[in-house]
Amino acid sequence: MPTTIVLGTQWGDEGKGKIANLLAMDADVVVRYQGGNNAGHTIVIGDEKFALSLIPSGVTYPTVTPVIGNGCVVDPKVLFSELEMLRSRGVDPSRLRVSHNAHLIMPYHRKLDAVRERFLGKQQIGTTKKGIGPAYMDKYARQGIRVQDLFDAKILRDKLDVALMEKNQLLTKVYNQLPFDAGDIYEEYIGYAGDLEEFVADTSLLVHEAIAADRRVVFEGAQATLLDIDHGTYPFVTSSNPTAGGALTGSGVGPTEIDTVLGVAKAYISRVGSGPFPTELHDEVGETMVTVGGEFGTVTGRRRRCGWLDVVALRYAVRVNGVTELALMKLDVLSEFETLRIANGYTSGGETYTEFPRQQRVLYDCEPIYEDLDGWATDITGVRSFDDLPKEARLYIERVEELAGVPVSMVSVGPDREATFGR
Ligand code: GDP
Ligand code: IMO
Ligand code: MG
Repeated sequence: MPTTIVLGTQWGDEGKGKIANLLAMDADVVVRYQGGNNAGHTIVIGDEKFALSLIPSGVTYPTVTPVIGNGCVVDPKVLFSELEMLRSRGVDPSRLRVSHNAHLIMPYHRKLDAVRERFLGKQQIGTTKKGIGPAYMDKYARQGIRVQDLFDAKILRDKLDVALMEKNQLLTKVYNQLPFDAGDIYEEYIGYAGDLEEFVADTSLLVHEAIAADRRVVFEGAQATLLDIDHGTYPFVTSSNPTAGGALTGSGVGPTEIDTVLGVAKAYISRVGSGPFPTELHDEVGETMVTVGGEFGTVTGRRRRCGWLDVVALRYAVRVNGVTELALMKLDVLSEFETLRIANGYTSGGETYTEFPRQQRVLYDCEPIYEDLDGWATDITGVRSFDDLPKEARLYIERVEELAGVPVSMVSVGPDREATFGR
């Protein structure tokens, strides 16, 4: 696996951080290619638990160069506090490199994210309120401020003046908020330049050189396919491309450089925030998934909505990402249930859907068509090989492979890095 994209196939929180960290053990570079501190990637190594939101999961190894690619949005305050957290826990993050072209999350982005959500009321997306959407809006409106702008005082000041001309009108006149002062923001952000400088690099070149030297590179996705701005359940999505194409544009490498696309899927499915969710469970089974699976957001602490595995969505994720293999996570959580269900189709208005429906209304209206499988109802957290799994668990994995159309190459049966095995 010289180059592997690790990405989410569901609505996030599949365990991408754990898998990226595991692959990073043999890697040289780990690149985050999109998103920002809306992500929460948990890594458990023995008694140690790290919750990372911005810095790639490979940072725990002294041999890895963690990279924040051009496709990410960076909140400098969050970056510095994450660096500090790592240093205080004995991890040296000095190898981190941040793209000169990554966009910055500004204070007005955070504010706009929060007030827009408030204004949307019942229609709200349920964002993480970290300023992600407004930062990407500015990027695409060509009004964003990039990492490199911190090293050009005049440009930074000019860009801030232009940005605030519009933002302050919006904040005061539409949202009834106080305006921001360009001078204050300028002082704060120019103050970050000194501390950031050692990390800034042309990360596209860095990744290219690593690949050219046959080094192993892991691209660590954040969010997931169904939260993708193009392929997700719009508008209940994030504002970037977590899908495989985003790994290319977000890190500045070409498609011919990629060997493996590893799709990460929980053995069930969860979603945090608003939006359609065909297999969502509002009963005791769903509640058990939440409690046993510890389904509370790493970033916001919000309770995640849970439901049975949806292979209609999984096949869709395999297709739009060109997934070559799957990592099946949290299989241990299914030990709780005597009967397991997999949704292999939907029905709505007398029609049957086996492909992800093109009309989103169907996702709200539909009834999942379930296939029932026997559970194993025994603790599997200590299992470390496919052959040692109970027969029912092996059959479950094989059925997922069959329905998804790609092999399951990794199985995870607990939060710890050790609780994982190949297939
Ligand atoms: P990410 O956003 O995709 O990196 O996933 P998160 O870290 O937000 O959420 C996954 C959660 O499940 C974390 O708390 C992990 O420690 C935990 N986890 C990962 N793999 C397993 C597993 O196989 N079993 C159990 N029980 N927990 C797991
Ligand atoms: P990881 O990388 C789960 C969701 C939010 C909201 C929507 C838009 O840990 O899997 P945003 O703040 O991005 O504008 O919010 O996307 N969301 C996530 N859900 N895991 C994530 O990241 C998420 N990042 C954003 O809850 O519904
Ligand atoms: Mg997460």
